[in-house]
Amino acid sequence: MIKTDIIEKIRQIHTPFYYYNMEVLNATIGRCTLEAGRYGYRMHYALKANSNPKILKIISSAGFGADCVSGNEVKSALEHGFQAGKIMFAGVGKTDDELRLALNHGIQSINVESVQEMEVINSLASEMGVKARISLRIIPNVDAHTHRYITTGLEENKFGILTWQFDAVLEKLRSLDNLELQGLHFHIGSQITDLAVFKSLCERVNEINTWFMEQGYLTDIINVGGGLGVDYSEPDKCSIPDFAAYFGVFHDLIELQGHQQLHFEPGRAIVAQCGSLITRVLFVKEAVNTRFAIVDAGMNDLIRPALYQSYHKIENLTSTGEKRKYDVVGPVCESSDCFGKAVVMPETRRGDLIAIRSAGAYGQTMASRYNLRDLAGEVYSDEI
Ligand code: LLP
Repeated sequence: MIKTDIIEKIRQIHTPFYYYNMEVLNATIGRCTLEAGRYGYRMHYALKANSNPKILKIISSAGFGADCVSGNEVKSALEHGFQAGKIMFAGVGKTDDELRLALNHGIQSINVESVQEMEVINSLASEMGVKARISLRIIPNVDAHTHRYITTGLEENKFGILTWQFDAVLEKLRSLDNLELQGLHFHIGSQITDLAVFKSLCERVNEINTWFMEQGYLTDIINVGGGLGVDYSEPDKCSIPDFAAYFGVFHDLIELQGHQQLHFEPGRAIVAQCGSLITRVLFVKEAVNTRFAIVDAGMNDLIRPALYQSYHKIENLTSTGEKRKYDVVGPVCESSDCFGKAVVMPETRRGDLIAIRSAGAYGQTMASRYNLRDLAGEVYSDEI
């Protein structure tokens, strides 16, 4: 629950806006760093989850590297304090300009997804007179047991290189002088709550790592991606994900060779729970079998419920009336513009403030101006 003194402070602010609780953010970063530090694991924050400058600066100053998926993310990471030598650039479709930018800044690694991409990077690197450090993004064929739109580690997904393509990849690699193989990269999906999935990932990574070693390639980096889920039902009780259990799985099962470093790319686990979308009730409307609370935030501000049918806890911050059920919907001209059905809230009236919780990850970064709506701004708890 958002604290009462905060509610008084935010009451007058123009809605909708994203509210970031910096205590939660800092505590999450602190715990992640502590638990990862026990084993010397390296963190690369996935900018796609939230790329607000203030948040990026805090994460970079905690020593994280960056996982980027566009040239603009690489630029933003550099502008907000991430060292070039700790930036990874992944993505299934990188343009020549984006690749040149990455090569120009000498980032840590470009994660390649096909033989054709290797050829393109090699020729760009040779034109520029540099060596490109690359990692191979590999499809381990491990099912993440999450929503199909955010499952990325199966053979049917567009990401990465399949095991039966390895011979061709290594043959090509041997013929390309401007590439240096630095790592093996895996990312099987997002919002993974069953740690057994990461156990299966470890087993596959060990097999694949061994195979590469047998072919004479002992890479410096094993990157197991992101994906650790958060508890959308209990944003207060479980505001910090169980990093100890998560890293513990890898510590128990992953078999690193020689000086190999283990890298992670958490996004959601770092920023989801610190953010709430704050919106105001415009109208309450009785309908057949339901009652709508129509709010001033829409699916353009937070698309997760509409796109992935995801659950976000919804709270009325300003009413203490008798409990009733509401469908909380936005003003956008689509029936999918619904944040929650049959949400139990105290009697809700025009003007009430509503918090849509756990919205710090993939909230603001996925916002659009659909219906020509203004973009929601942001408010930080340490600035009000
Ligand atoms: N590394 C790679 C290569 C990724 O593709 C992703 C996320 C991450 C790391 C970070 O994953 P995380 O730790 O945040 O799970 N918009 C969706 C999530 C899309 C995730 C895309 N890739 C959502 O709102 O649920």
